[in-house]
Amino acid sequence: MSEAAPQAADGGASPPLIRLRNIVKVYGEGGLAFKALKGVDLDIAQGEFVAIMGPSGSGKSTAMNTLGCLDRPTAGEYLFKGVHVEGLDRDERARLRRRYFGFVFQGFHLLPRTTAQENVELPLLYRGESAAQRHQAARRALEAVGLNGWEHHTPAELSGGQQQRVAIARAIVSNPVVLLADEPTGNLDTQRSEEIMELLWKLNHEQGITVLMVTHEPEMAAYARRIVRFKDGLLDTDVPNASVMLRAAALSAGHGLAQGREG
Ligand SMILES: Nc1ncnc2c1ncn2[C@@H]1O[C@H](COP(=O)(O)OP(=O)(O)O)[C@@H](O)[C@H]1O
Ligand SMILES: [Mg+2]
Repeated sequence: MSEAAPQAADGGASPPLIRLRNIVKVYGEGGLAFKALKGVDLDIAQGEFVAIMGPSGSGKSTAMNTLGCLDRPTAGEYLFKGVHVEGLDRDERARLRRRYFGFVFQGFHLLPRTTAQENVELPLLYRGESAAQRHQAARRALEAVGLNGWEHHTPAELSGGQQQRVAIARAIVSNPVVLLADEPTGNLDTQRSEEIMELLWKLNHEQGITVLMVTHEPEMAAYARRIVRFKDGLLDTDVPNASVMLRAAALSAGHGLAQGREG
């Protein structure tokens, strides 16, 4: 692999996977109106791993909701694969979301009293896939997150780290192009957090999934290739993460992830 991320075969003339231009998001109206995003520009290429940092209230989740087509901006342009998302209606955005995006949240958001397997199958149910297809894809996704043998357990029977891995399996079961994770380790202790980060790292490096992750913790942001900081509804800094290169080099010289962990 060369050092530069492989771009389109046309020499990079094609647009990036994601392009935000002067994105503004206003919540509420009149005297109560609040500008959460004040004109954000951001390009993200396919295959990137971006950590999004910044103080509480700086607009990180608002930006994630916009990127994931959950919400539409008040003004500005959002191009996803060259398509103007800001011009799509609710149903069109939902279709785009189901086809290209996976979501992971701080609080896991699993259905209670529902097995890991069934939770992971859910996005495929919405897509109208057959039971056989759903079972097979869910089993594969659970295997990818290291939960072989836990398929029939409900969230209450799983640890926080395992619940988040079920949530990641649910996010990747539909083969998304982009994984959006909003503080995915916010409810986990250090060791479980690192396991989740290694998993996200592996999905990015081995499967090429573009990962955008909000985090408050520098230790977690250290897994990303690029660190973007928000401040008061604007991008403050946007820098490549040098330390991750060392990690990539060490890993390619040594062994894989997932299996190699002790404890
Ligand atoms: N649905 C909403 N209605 C009104 N204000 C909101 C809403 N969501 C977020 N905000 C406000 O927008 C600002 C940015 O919020 P958010 O994007 O959640 O920040 P962050 O994720 O960086 O903590 C905050 O001041 C927050 O209170
Ligand atoms: Mg937030």
